Amino acid sequence: MTKKPYYITTPIYYPSSNLHIGHTYCTVMADAMARFKRLEGYDVRFLTGTDEHGQKIQKLADAKGVTPQAYVDEVVDGIKKLWATMEISYDDFIRTTEDRHVRRVQEIFKKMYAKGDIYKGEYEGLYCTPCEAFWTETQAVDGKCPDCGRPVEKAKEEAYFFKLSKYQDRLIDLFENNPEFLQPESRRNEMLAFVKQGLDDLCISRTSFDWGVPVPGDEKHVIYVWLDALSNYATALGYPEKMDDLYAKYWPADVHLVGKEIVRFHTVIWPAMLMSLDAPLPKQVLGHGWILLEGGKMSKSRGNCVDPVKLIDRYGVDALKYFLLREYTFGQDGVFTNEVMLNRMNYDLANDLGNLVSRTVSMIEKYDGGIVPAAGTDEGTDAELKAICTGAAEKVSAYMDKFSFSQALEEIWVAIRRTNKYIDETMPWALAKDPEKKDRLDTVMHNLAEALRIVSILIYPFMHSTSEKMREQLGIADQEIRWEDTFVFDVLNGNTVKKGDAIFPRMDVEKELAALEEMQKAQMEEAAKMAAAAEGGAAEEAKEEGEAEGDAPEIPYKDFIEFDDFEKIDFRVGKILSAEKHPKADKLLVFQVKIGKDTRQIISGVAEHFKPEDCVGKKVLVVANLKPRKLRGLESHGMLMFADNGDRMEFMTTIARDGEVVC
Ligand code: ME8
Ligand code: MG
Repeated sequence: MTKKPYYITTPIYYPSSNLHIGHTYCTVMADAMARFKRLEGYDVRFLTGTDEHGQKIQKLADAKGVTPQAYVDEVVDGIKKLWATMEISYDDFIRTTEDRHVRRVQEIFKKMYAKGDIYKGEYEGLYCTPCEAFWTETQAVDGKCPDCGRPVEKAKEEAYFFKLSKYQDRLIDLFENNPEFLQPESRRNEMLAFVKQGLDDLCISRTSFDWGVPVPGDEKHVIYVWLDALSNYATALGYPEKMDDLYAKYWPADVHLVGKEIVRFHTVIWPAMLMSLDAPLPKQVLGHGWILLEGGKMSKSRGNCVDPVKLIDRYGVDALKYFLLREYTFGQDGVFTNEVMLNRMNYDLANDLGNLVSRTVSMIEKYDGGIVPAAGTDEGTDAELKAICTGAAEKVSAYMDKFSFSQALEEIWVAIRRTNKYIDETMPWALAKDPEKKDRLDTVMHNLAEALRIVSILIYPFMHSTSEKMREQLGIADQEIRWEDTFVFDVLNGNTVKKGDAIFPRMDVEKELAALEEMQKAQMEEAAKMAAAAEGGAAEEAKEEGEAEGDAPEIPYKDFIEFDDFEKIDFRVGKILSAEKHPKADKLLVFQVKIGKDTRQIISGVAEHFKPEDCVGKKVLVVANLKPRKLRGLESHGMLMFADNGDRMEFMTTIARDGEVVC
């Protein structure tokens, strides 16, 4: 039987500098899905790559005194090394500077031109003469060039345009009739509204820089980045040059996995390009959320990017993968903190899984000379354990179909925790004392070994090295991993197990937190020095975002919530009685807040924004019913509300009106 094809892609990242945890998050999700689909029996093709053209790269290379090609070669080398370290199982890595891509993009341009969908017109924008750069209204800062700060002027240049407007009705149809095409749902509504507003034709060439794919036959123009970049998903399969091989097999793509800020390019421009080419559309575009820091976005110039390489060095690849996939809900934004990461690694991996493996293997060695015994008749919770373990795969598959990585992993941990509980219930150490109970002890050992074997298969798509380590200890390292082997519970009889190193050693969270904070401080000081040395770093970054995100807000809005959700929040007005620095965390302030007759301790990450003494006596809006939680050892009961107005934080001020306090 021929296998069903499955084609999944990540965005092709800009090699402007090293990638951070956000890029890693997207690639790790795609990798987990690719591995899962392979395990399910699909013929998977997984594509990633780099988007190497454009003015930003050209300028970075100029500043460094190297050619753009040399510049990207070095960064791409680092990216490929990162993916190798992380054991990302891509089948192809496309670089937009490769010949195969350049040639095929030019063919795509020609086809769209021949169709009558590309015409020459005039591009009007804000021009900075010294920088020879065009800016849009949103990119320019108060009428000035975001790069050099000098005034910009309205100017025109000759450019090619794509008749995007021609495809408006077909795009509306696409969103209305194919709810699966774009998920999550909230993004679909947003895009539908955007298309319904009316689409302008799209400028697809530039003459103001030359680091790009030349327009065929009119070489003073280069093809503008998005037409070049989006084409990668098809050119990597040979389109339009060689259509009878990979393209025939894998196109249309099953999933383009992308961050939410580039959903618009993937669900409006890319489908319209494909319509113009009379090519089938991708089956689905999935827009994932962002990993944010407590203070907002990661920013290279502020030096607060979380570097995956440093985390891998300390905690290993699988711990990082597990954290990323387990912690964040697909489609939503999430906040990265060291504390949450370390707790996940310690509790879920070291305690729950690591411990289970070492306890089980040790006991089989001790009680059965390392040989997995056969099971006797079921007693106690045996049947329940068996049902949970052999039933987990089906639940995992159902969540994976929805890209719910976090819930899929949670299902696996239900089985892991149940197995740990089974040890407490059966108390093998007590059974071992009574020779009469040897049969029962054997059954328990058998069940524990089988549960672990099933877990080793279930975690394979997410953490394959850990799976392999477990299988080594279970003595089945050389056996093929097959999804269907999770449905049975009697595979290991007579097999020899062998204890190895702890798969996830426990760590001292407080000590690790301090070490990570130290590292991050150094990184931020370094970035501050670099920014001072290379003026305009921030402007460069702003430009990149402008290029990629058009007029998206600086910090993107979160998904809609229902009114019912909103109503659950209990807002109160509080008065700050005292404020002091958290003894264990530089960023946190500990407040005592009076709400009515109640006085509460609330901790907030605003130490960088306020001096404690300036807060005392202030009225502040409080979310009173947020579940209490401990922050670095101190309890916080509620949340203080501040508003970020871009450059500084402000209290949500209170105004007295008719004796009543209104926020
Ligand atoms: O946009 N949280 O490349 P890019 C989560 N070259 N994901 C993040 C993230 C974060 N904080 N930051 C980045 C481009 N990402 C274009 C794409 S595709 C034809 C061209 C991830 O280097 C996320 O997947 O800016 C986002 O869409 C992608 O990196 C953007 O990478
Ligand atoms: Mg970007």
